[in-house]
Amino acid sequence: QPIYLADYTPPNWLVEEVSLTFVLDPRATRVRSTIRFTPNPATTSRDFFLHGEQLKLIRAAIDGAGITPELVDGGLKAEVPGTAFTWESEVEISPQTNTALEGLYMSNGMYCTQCEAEGFRRITFYPDRPDVMAPFKVRIEGDLPVLLSNGNPTGSGDGWAEWHDPWPKPAYLFALVAGELIAREDSFTTMSGKEVDLKLWVRPGDEGKTAFGMEALKASMKWDEQVYGREYDLDIFQIVAVSDFNMGAMENKGLNIFNTSAVLASSKTSTDANFERIEAIIAHEYFHNWTGNRITCRDWFQLSLKEGLTVFRDQQFSGDMRSKAVCRINDVIALRGRQFREDNGPLAHQVQPDSFVEINNFYTATIYEKGAELIGMMKTLVGEEEYYKALDLYFTRHDGEAATIEDWVRVFEDSTGRDLTQFRRWYKQAGTPRLKVMEDFKDGTYTLHFEQETPPTPGQDKKQPQHIPIAVGLIGPNGDEVVPTRVLEMTETKQSFTFDGLGAKPTPSILRHFSAPVIVQRDSSPAERAFLLAHDTDPFNKWEAGRTLAKDVLIAMVTGEDAPLSNYLEALAVMLRDDSLDPAFRALALGLPGQDDLAQTLFDAGVTPDPQKIHRAGETLKQATAEHLHDLLPRLSAEMEVNAPFKPNAEQAGKRALGLELLKLTNRMDGGAAAQALYDKADNMTHRLGALGCLLDVEKGADALADFRSRFDGDALVMDKWFAMQVAHAAPEKAADVTATLTQDPAFNWKNPNRFRAVFGALAMNQAGFHHVSGKAYALTADWLIKLDPVNHQIAARMTTAFETWRRYDADRQDMITSALRRILATDGLSRDSQEMVRRMLGD
Ligand code: ARG
Ligand code: ZN
Repeated sequence: QPIYLADYTPPNWLVEEVSLTFVLDPRATRVRSTIRFTPNPATTSRDFFLHGEQLKLIRAAIDGAGITPELVDGGLKAEVPGTAFTWESEVEISPQTNTALEGLYMSNGMYCTQCEAEGFRRITFYPDRPDVMAPFKVRIEGDLPVLLSNGNPTGSGDGWAEWHDPWPKPAYLFALVAGELIAREDSFTTMSGKEVDLKLWVRPGDEGKTAFGMEALKASMKWDEQVYGREYDLDIFQIVAVSDFNMGAMENKGLNIFNTSAVLASSKTSTDANFERIEAIIAHEYFHNWTGNRITCRDWFQLSLKEGLTVFRDQQFSGDMRSKAVCRINDVIALRGRQFREDNGPLAHQVQPDSFVEINNFYTATIYEKGAELIGMMKTLVGEEEYYKALDLYFTRHDGEAATIEDWVRVFEDSTGRDLTQFRRWYKQAGTPRLKVMEDFKDGTYTLHFEQETPPTPGQDKKQPQHIPIAVGLIGPNGDEVVPTRVLEMTETKQSFTFDGLGAKPTPSILRHFSAPVIVQRDSSPAERAFLLAHDTDPFNKWEAGRTLAKDVLIAMVTGEDAPLSNYLEALAVMLRDDSLDPAFRALALGLPGQDDLAQTLFDAGVTPDPQKIHRAGETLKQATAEHLHDLLPRLSAEMEVNAPFKPNAEQAGKRALGLELLKLTNRMDGGAAAQALYDKADNMTHRLGALGCLLDVEKGADALADFRSRFDGDALVMDKWFAMQVAHAAPEKAADVTATLTQDPAFNWKNPNRFRAVFGALAMNQAGFHHVSGKAYALTADWLIKLDPVNHQIAARMTTAFETWRRYDADRQDMITSALRRILATDGLSRDSQEMVRRMLGD
């Protein structure tokens, strides 16, 4: 029973004000609500419906008179007056037994909430839709020392606290936290001179991991003022770290709730990648205060309005805090790994879908990361200055509203005068456009011929041409840039662009900065790729040239053609020796394209990918690289040593990243000696984990694993790494068995989302292991998803995406995967979430 965007109707009733009282009890929390409803002048129907799920109704009243509402599927109906009235109700809920982690639940002895998208209806009866916005007053009663909700504190005493959030908000932004917590406190003075209290709440014992998060928060607040002119709007801003959390974090107004993995950081327990992710997520949730909270979404079809824009903003922020080039490359690697994968399989969907069954299934890479790319393209099209002008108009025009993606695009049109009719297709057409490029050169005129084509996706057979900004530069034969970056606007299916007055045929640098989320298809020689790796002035395309060359080598190895191995190895050696290049960049240039990406490329070329062969090609190439660079490794590794106290900044992280890439190569030559030495002397998690991975790769990890466990036994986030590493570094034929063994470990606390993901997320990402011909990994994953689904439907549904690429593979694998999926689908009482995912994947 899908819900359709086209069926949207405004709410009959608006909420003027809400008061909630919580009397906390693990199994019998009472929630009393008083809600002032007013008729919505935009509608004529006065039918009254409130959402509510898994609530025990104790009593209800309208204007003080008790009533018996009609309980219906998903909520209740009642006879109400034709004019404004006050609704009261009291319900009972059981946070202790709420394992779905949606609504009010308990984690590690504390109460916390997750309401987005539709969790508030598990707390009390309410119009739980984002276009109903109201100020909230909350009173919490309970014998816990810390009692928190949104907004500003208005009073507290022994066993109670009261909060008032004056900013009208939808119910999905509601939050409540109660427990034994300790705060790191700080403050921030806003640009207009207002003092804001900052509190980062953690469980006792985690205080030592809060400094970095607090600095990231202050940096985010400053950045949003400087870059977007956005100031914070309450007296206090709080973050709470929670161990059991389905997602990374949540932007509840004034009270962000974070997965511990997305906020707690220390050098001994967190890798550089962890620090970077934490900084980005803290920024993301903070930025939601304007893009999401002050301006929210009319309905969930508009989800990318807040998520795409907020991801774009957090990516800009990370680029400013660290290296722009390195951040961009990492963002594109992630986009290709997750969004392209999604967009090219049975789960492909629009950035603005037309329908869904369960909204939780649409918190996807397409809504988030592709959504962010669309914002980036708009910025590229209108230019920096016009972009910020348009954003100012967006904030003034829609502040306090529940807006739509259409509103957003119209703001851009009104502000810049550009017609974005065709650009809108990016929101409504699923699938990754393929961009074919051809060239010719005659009499000093160079011409680029482009052809775009988007393959069919479920429900969309035919695609219209999209408006693609293609940033292009031209490099002359001697390596100088003869035409600096210009943005070509492609709007037709086929289109050519000419460049005059050139003395010789140039080498094109196409799609600089990855100016559009498309797949470029261009036959090019290894020599030309190596030339661009050496001379391109655009750091993204410089990296891309090396990556494409590596991909050419791997694909040729898999298909048994002549691989341009020596071009690759020589170009790589030159690049690595270039001290003018950021070590982080060099580390990225040493990385190989993902096995999943290679499988898709082969599939596109009409070859059925064999995950084992792809894996072997990677091993062969890495071995050849290690041998080729052998002489260079000791000197370069020594240069990457950091002789200063640990700092999680981009500079040190870059050196560690390159150092570890080099260690992986050394590891192939010395059988693990250097890795063991690094493990033994490691004073930070980046080195310790990197060294452990190398030891596991050469099957000499037993001692290090035991040591690691004894050091970090009590630290859940680090133990997640202990689990994940063993699966990630298991040989393909062993991955399923290693995973099965780990599920028997007493520490495999599978109801905890982080632990479950550590193990089964790692298995899904170990491509050759997951797709091993034995089919064991498929069966094991299905067994555990069936077990998890009744406990936590959101995580179970999300993890079914391990199977989403099944159509690429051979008949045997397809049979094994589809029977695993059918077995999941046949499970009694399977959640709506998982049902929708599996059905979409199977195409029924
Ligand atoms: N809005 C949150 C964020 O982007 C994500 C929460 C999603 N929660 C969910 N149950 N789907 O940071
Ligand atoms: Zn978000």
